[in-house]
Amino acid sequence: MQIKELLLQTPNQQTVMVKGWVRTKRVSSSVAFIAINDGSTIHNIQAVVADGAVAEETLKLVTTGACIAVTGSLIPSQGQGQSVEVQVSDILVYGSADPEKYPLQPKKHSLEFLREIGHLRPRTNTFSAILRIRHALAFAIHQYFNEHGFFYLHTPIITGSDAEGAGEMFRVTTLPAIQPPLTEDGKVDYKEDFFGKETNLTVSGQLEGELGALALSKIYTFGPTFRAENSNTTRHLAEFWMVEPEMAFFELTDNMNLAEDFTKSLIKYALEHCADDIAFLEKRLLDEEKTKKKEEQSEMTLTEKLRFVSENTFERITYTEAIDILLQSKPHKQGKFNYPVAWGIDLQSEHERYLVEKHFKKPVILTHYPKDIKAFYMKLEDDGKTVRAMDVLFPGIGEIIGGSQREDDYEKLLQRTKEVGIEEESIWWYLQTRQFGSAPHAGFGLGFERLVLFVTGMSNIRDVIPFPRTPKSAEF
Ligand code: 4AD
Ligand code: MG
Repeated sequence: MQIKELLLQTPNQQTVMVKGWVRTKRVSSSVAFIAINDGSTIHNIQAVVADGAVAEETLKLVTTGACIAVTGSLIPSQGQGQSVEVQVSDILVYGSADPEKYPLQPKKHSLEFLREIGHLRPRTNTFSAILRIRHALAFAIHQYFNEHGFFYLHTPIITGSDAEGAGEMFRVTTLPAIQPPLTEDGKVDYKEDFFGKETNLTVSGQLEGELGALALSKIYTFGPTFRAENSNTTRHLAEFWMVEPEMAFFELTDNMNLAEDFTKSLIKYALEHCADDIAFLEKRLLDEEKTKKKEEQSEMTLTEKLRFVSENTFERITYTEAIDILLQSKPHKQGKFNYPVAWGIDLQSEHERYLVEKHFKKPVILTHYPKDIKAFYMKLEDDGKTVRAMDVLFPGIGEIIGGSQREDDYEKLLQRTKEVGIEEESIWWYLQTRQFGSAPHAGFGLGFERLVLFVTGMSNIRDVIPFPRTPKSAEF
């Protein structure tokens, strides 16, 4: 039985077996107390070993990090904060962990240090809590879409298309694994193509997602996405997970309504199903806050922030209105923005943070961006200058969602592809959907790690994905 279930049992001296990793062992004169965790919950179960109940040599191997199976009877616990404990009759040590070498000794470890031992960090309270919340959110995403008539579409990872036309992409090459051919100067001579065609790792499943929506009406994708941007920020990964719903017969307002309802539902799901893990992370954050200056301390606890966002309406404004607010703002007037504000600029995170954290103090949906700073597929407004784009900005995160209503007019789309230099031959299949049964449609992409960041209150994106791929880390 997993520890999560065991902790809910009524203790009747029934024999139980607990398998897990030792968090701590405390020895007093005649008893040893072992805290065991199996990852099913943030809580440990306490195993109590009376003097002589197990062999001295076995007990010696029970140290922090060791993997053990404990057999004993489940009894009411005398200790605080736990209702049951195991009175041990036998211990099996699956794998010991030399206390001289095991890096996760019971003390506070910095997040930077834990990033260096990525292979072991899931065994810490903080990371196991994050991983469980990540799992719950992924499950909630599938549940939400399933309940709302969406179909999960598996879009390709290797693709010839570049949906965003923005950052750098990872090219796919072919190379014989054994004895690759070498060039004259001894370097590996690999082909920069996928069996004769230039391909890359997907930057977004959107274009393929649109093909699905124009057949099944409502689809979503949820998978790994790759961007070769060499940016070492706390918000960017080279490999991240994106959730992309795409809906036929949706216009921009429907798209905004869905994005708002969807994110709120996911946050509510986490509040309801991950309360213990969120409470643990909240306590961790409160300790961290104490080390900050008073004015930098957060006004709300993690739970309060999650409740607030999931229960209040998001602000909706146009890009033009946002620029006006920024032009009127103190930091602009005092020349404190690093990047000057003017209509037409791509908003920088300092601008987004001002709008969300200082001005509105809640999530904001920004719409109608200038066409020149957005992707080619967005539907042109009647003004000929702006597109039906929407970005959802979150406090402490910045952009969490990017989306739009799509251009469904064949001539206008063709014109845009030409303007931005996309060759017709490379995207004929996409253009054809506007020639055969075109329909108004819209969609968006939610950066999954950015959502996990928000829900866990963590501040670095490398800490919310089990195996971060950033320019510096791809060891395993
Ligand atoms: O705004 P983006 O680039 O939009 C698209 O890719 C559209 N094709 C989505 C669509 O309409 N179907 O990316 C969407 C979201 C961003 O808002 C951000 O949350 C996340 O993906 N994102 C990243 N997350 C982590 N690391 C990166 N390098 C990211 N780049 C984008
Ligand atoms: Mg974007």
